[in-house]
Amino acid sequence: MCGIVGYIGNKEAKKILLDGLCELEYRGYDSAGIAIMQQGDVSLFKAVGKLANLAAVSDGFESKGFALGIGHTRWATHGKPTEANAHPHIGENSFVVHNGIIENYAAIKEELIKEGINFLSQTDTEVIGHLFEKNLKKTNDSLEALRLTQEQLEGAYAVLIITKFENEKIFFMKKGSPPLLIGTSKNNDEIYFASSESVLIGQADGAIFLKEDDYGFVKKDEVKIFNHGEEVAFQVKKIEGTRAGAQKEGYRYFMEKEIYEQSAVLVDTMMGRVSKDRIVLEELAALGDLSQFREIKICACGTSYHAAIAATYMFERNSKIRASAEIASEFRYKEPFLSKDMLFVVISQSGETADTLEALKIAKNAGLKTLAVCNVDNSTIVRESDATILTRAGIEKGVASTKAFATQMLVFWMLSIVLAEKKGSMSNEAIKKEIETILKAKDAVVVEPAMHERLKRLSKRYLHGHGFFFIGRDIFYPLALEGALKLKEITYLHAEGYPAGEMKHGPIALADSELFTIALLPKTLLYDKTKSNIEELSARDSTIVAISPSEFDIADDFIKTKVWDHYMLEFFEMMVVVQILSLEVAVRLGNDVDMPRNLAKSVTVE
Ligand code: F6R
Repeated sequence: MCGIVGYIGNKEAKKILLDGLCELEYRGYDSAGIAIMQQGDVSLFKAVGKLANLAAVSDGFESKGFALGIGHTRWATHGKPTEANAHPHIGENSFVVHNGIIENYAAIKEELIKEGINFLSQTDTEVIGHLFEKNLKKTNDSLEALRLTQEQLEGAYAVLIITKFENEKIFFMKKGSPPLLIGTSKNNDEIYFASSESVLIGQADGAIFLKEDDYGFVKKDEVKIFNHGEEVAFQVKKIEGTRAGAQKEGYRYFMEKEIYEQSAVLVDTMMGRVSKDRIVLEELAALGDLSQFREIKICACGTSYHAAIAATYMFERNSKIRASAEIASEFRYKEPFLSKDMLFVVISQSGETADTLEALKIAKNAGLKTLAVCNVDNSTIVRESDATILTRAGIEKGVASTKAFATQMLVFWMLSIVLAEKKGSMSNEAIKKEIETILKAKDAVVVEPAMHERLKRLSKRYLHGHGFFFIGRDIFYPLALEGALKLKEITYLHAEGYPAGEMKHGPIALADSELFTIALLPKTLLYDKTKSNIEELSARDSTIVAISPSEFDIADDFIKTKVWDHYMLEFFEMMVVVQILSLEVAVRLGNDVDMPRNLAKSVTVE
């Protein structure tokens, strides 16, 4: 989604805002803008497209001495990605950046138009500045005007406002899921704002995570937070780490780097959790006695949802516990039937996905114990859950998720074994064997140069056609879904994931030589069954790319994987294959692999 930054202090404000936006650009990149105020004069710059365009239009501008500024990188929700729709949006004297959605903007806009206000954009955001100014005229008190504005705006949002009426303050307000952080400095002489902690790393010393319905203002040496009319106390969390971890380090794309990092992040995810004969997930202690759970419900979106489906196979097979996965945006409105003996699990790379967060809240309100499997510590989903297992994938910048998925899969594999031990559903011997295999997962995801080269060569044959079917059985079905999602996200080619056995129930009607079937054919799980399904497609002349350790003579293209003795190791190797295949097709098509069109890294609107 959109990214927000803000700064107040004596440093050069434009550089700080642009650096911060650069850190957030992968979240949304339709357009960007900044507004910098010095002694009541505001310099406003906006540009459509990538941040480089904003840097170009603001070239030559520098703030000198005390300044305050706000910045935004946009992922369009209301109105096309044009300069007029780029933030900051302006009232008469105020400038606004906003992440989220104002649900009742149309009614407010109509009212304001009747009162003679002229609107310049098609966005929901523009009402915020005008409404704030209207309330300011009425109350003559900017803080009260802000409180009223927050009261009148429905939806989910994080907002920063600067106004010529108060040229030493940045105002803020937050409702619902979009995150907003205030960064404090060691010398208490400057303040930062950001929609993600990663922006504050290396800049600010501490971070304040704003809570639901917080609003207030900052001066360069003061933070005032209010909630429903009362001033509230806040905690400042120390910021650790460096920005270096997020550079490309010689790879062409972040996505490529992140695919290559998978072995290392799997090791990190196992650290302190897996020993030779035991898996310990101390994080689960917060859930109390695990034997109280008779069922597991998992909610997530996108790639994380694919990990959720895969997890159901592992829970049922290993832990002998009933498990189901649901898409969070569906779950939230279906009036779900929830029972207290259910463990409710959410999965999220970002920890900020609005639909997943709402699903979590529904489960909490129903009195269920909740567990988050998440990659971002301190994210909203982590803070809202009873317990969290962090996936330790590190910052994932490529919009198409790769290493986060790998670590999610590993966490669920580990969790299924912990539950199996608890429930006695696997023998000690079988658990030991499973752990030995888990320890090998890091080897299965190593990218072999020869394999990468082969996929690069093969990719040239798959730049057209009328569609791709990724097919697999059992846990390779969610991997097929994930392979298809990766391909469509970055190549813009149409792809679907299907259970291999389901093809003959309809989809096979599409089969011809221009329909490409990417077949996941592991040796250790349902080999013959899957093979027959592929043969059925081949007989209808679909072009077959088989991924398997066993030669397959009817394949048009064959990608030979290693021989492993466990289906999960085959799963992990094939996961890397489908990731790289998508990457190489996208590169050949000339697409922006890290920032594919229309997408955003963190989806904080429903
Ligand atoms: C796919 C992708 C998205 C996310 C989805 C959920 O490559 O990145 O489908 O998986 O938006 O996001 P998180 O996991 O952050 O909740």
